[in-house]
Amino acid sequence: MSDKIFIGVAWPYANGSLHLGHIAGCYLPADIFARYNRMKGRDVLMVSGSDEHGTPITITAEKEKTTPQTIVDRYNKEHTENMRQLDISFDLFTRTTTENHEKIVQDVFSTLYEKGYIYKKNVDAFYCNSCNRFLPDRYVEGTCPYCGNEKTRGDQCDECGKILDSQELLDVKCKICGSTPERRTSDHLFLALSKFEPKLLDWMKDKKYWKPSVLKFTYNWLKNGLKDKAITRDMAWGIKVPVEGFEGKRIYVWFDAVTGYLSASKEWSQSLGYPNKWEEWWKNKQAKHYYFLAKDNIPFHSLIWPSMLMGYDEALNLPYDIPANEYLCLKGEQFSKSRGLGIFVSDILEKFDADAVRYYLSINMPENKDTNWTWDDFVAKNNDEIVGTYGNFIHRVVTFTQKNFGEIPSQGTLDDLDKQAIKKIEEISGTASDAIEKCSFKKGLRTVMSLAQFGNFYFDQNQPWNLIKNDKERCGSVLHICFKLVQALAVFMAPYLPFSSDAIWKMLGNTDSIKSWDDALSELKEGTPLEKPAPLFKKLVLEDIVEEADPFSKLDLRVAKVIDVKDHPQADKLYLMQLDLGPLGKRIIVAGIKPCYSKEELNGKSIIIVTNLKSATIRGIQSKGMLLAAEDDQGDVSLLDPKDATPGAEIFVEGIPREPVSVLEFDDFKQVIMTIGDKQEVVYNGKPLKSKNNTVVTDKKVKIGVRVS
Ligand code: MF3
Ligand code: ZN
Repeated sequence: MSDKIFIGVAWPYANGSLHLGHIAGCYLPADIFARYNRMKGRDVLMVSGSDEHGTPITITAEKEKTTPQTIVDRYNKEHTENMRQLDISFDLFTRTTTENHEKIVQDVFSTLYEKGYIYKKNVDAFYCNSCNRFLPDRYVEGTCPYCGNEKTRGDQCDECGKILDSQELLDVKCKICGSTPERRTSDHLFLALSKFEPKLLDWMKDKKYWKPSVLKFTYNWLKNGLKDKAITRDMAWGIKVPVEGFEGKRIYVWFDAVTGYLSASKEWSQSLGYPNKWEEWWKNKQAKHYYFLAKDNIPFHSLIWPSMLMGYDEALNLPYDIPANEYLCLKGEQFSKSRGLGIFVSDILEKFDADAVRYYLSINMPENKDTNWTWDDFVAKNNDEIVGTYGNFIHRVVTFTQKNFGEIPSQGTLDDLDKQAIKKIEEISGTASDAIEKCSFKKGLRTVMSLAQFGNFYFDQNQPWNLIKNDKERCGSVLHICFKLVQALAVFMAPYLPFSSDAIWKMLGNTDSIKSWDDALSELKEGTPLEKPAPLFKKLVLEDIVEEADPFSKLDLRVAKVIDVKDHPQADKLYLMQLDLGPLGKRIIVAGIKPCYSKEELNGKSIIIVTNLKSATIRGIQSKGMLLAAEDDQGDVSLLDPKDATPGAEIFVEGIPREPVSVLEFDDFKQVIMTIGDKQEVVYNGKPLKSKNNTVVTDKKVKIGVRVS
């Protein structure tokens, strides 16, 4: 392994809070790898920063009716703080709005332009006549030509992962106003990716060690022939295009962002006072470059960034490995801010220690397939593995020794099991290294955990609680070996659980922090006084966690389409309504809206129902759900209108995870107080109820503040 390691980690868009999907996807694996390599004595440079340009930012700003600057300042601050809380050990976490970065991006751009790798082309662009503006990629939505997904944004299809040119989309709509934009021609600058094809293929030849998924994705792209890519956009937020005639346009955010790896390395060198230091990583052929990111970012790192580097300066290092992860999911679905699905870093760290979170994310890392975050598994792994196995071993060793010896005892003659313990440490050192070196972090962690299991076994076999009564010297010697295991565990765990490893390290009489992987086998400081240890990890109680959930999260609100309405045979004011809930099937509910809605009004209408409410039998007929409506003090009823949402679509409130219980008690439902806001929107806790693309409103005008039930 070379002694210079560059680690680039995907730059998070500064348009929303970081959730656990981000952390498991790239920041944690990168950090484990960085920490491990530093412990192996390698010179690591790990950089990233906020991705602050592009339409993801402007769209968020428009939604919040504020400036892009306000948005990026807020989230850059929050992300920086989150990285600190989780102790992601960046050498530099910067942002793409620095002067340094803009200068370097423009230099890369101009150089590629001068070398003929960037050229001008007159192309069709979308122009919205009602908004009076050109629409950059994320401002349009249409049908993906590859998989048929209807809500595909202009730059990439979330469904099939293809990176698109918005011109390829079918049935395009303006995302701001919903109208169909027209095509107008406009000059744009293109990156001639096609020119790099032979070089890329050549470079790829020895990349057999890449993850199969990354290889496959990249080859699929290459196989279909690389299309040149537009790298200018019609917008005002972004880095200016350093080419005459393009003053009104900005550089495409991906061109800008990937260049951050280089600009951040230079910024870091500058700040150290050695402006050329970055070259030790970028121009030294021995250095290895690793890029950590989640799967949707693969082609930008495996094809576009390498092309840019090749074209810009032959002397610069290309990626050595791109160990992209799959997704961490919540209930089988990708974490997604816009759909209210997510566990945010700031929230979870208010409740749990960083190491507890890091452990579960590591042992459950989506390395080769999507994995799921579930609260009961989080609690189970925490209690059984970190508390029950690892924490327990450390705790019993330190507590017992402190009580009976008050210090780390010295080593006596070794018996077979003692020798086996020492051999075991050496063995684990090797196998854990091998795994981490190959970016198999789960395997590495499981390997280290097996040493903790061995520790418990060793302790039990030797029964120090009996030895202390009749052979104190041997007891001390056994505990000495136990401390050797404790020391090794602290070292091997350090890349994963830096906080607790550091605490254990201090218990062993060290004043500095863990520096080297080989510290695992160093001599113990015999005679180091021990203090009564506080438990390193906390046992968790599932009920405590789940109970804290917002009462709204228990509800399963869905869009339902009325397909038939009949009078209730037993009651004047009740209807029997047959509803279509798409993938959830059809069902009948009993509803008391006969005085306010005719059958004709209801037929074909989309409404919202609570699907999981304990079913009730109303006048002899079972109602499987309850519709939601606003009712004022006059008794006027207005149904809720989910707009064009499809049957079965989930209704949510941003920031509240959807965790519907299987049967919702009416008392729990009553706790959820929803009212009507000044735009006739339905509000819960100050936030609007939403379907995938719309805010839920009433279908007739009702008074503000009226309750929904
Ligand atoms: N901001 C992008 C995202 O969140 C990732 C950019 S990675 C980069 O998907 F470093 F290349 F910019
Ligand atoms: Zn429009």
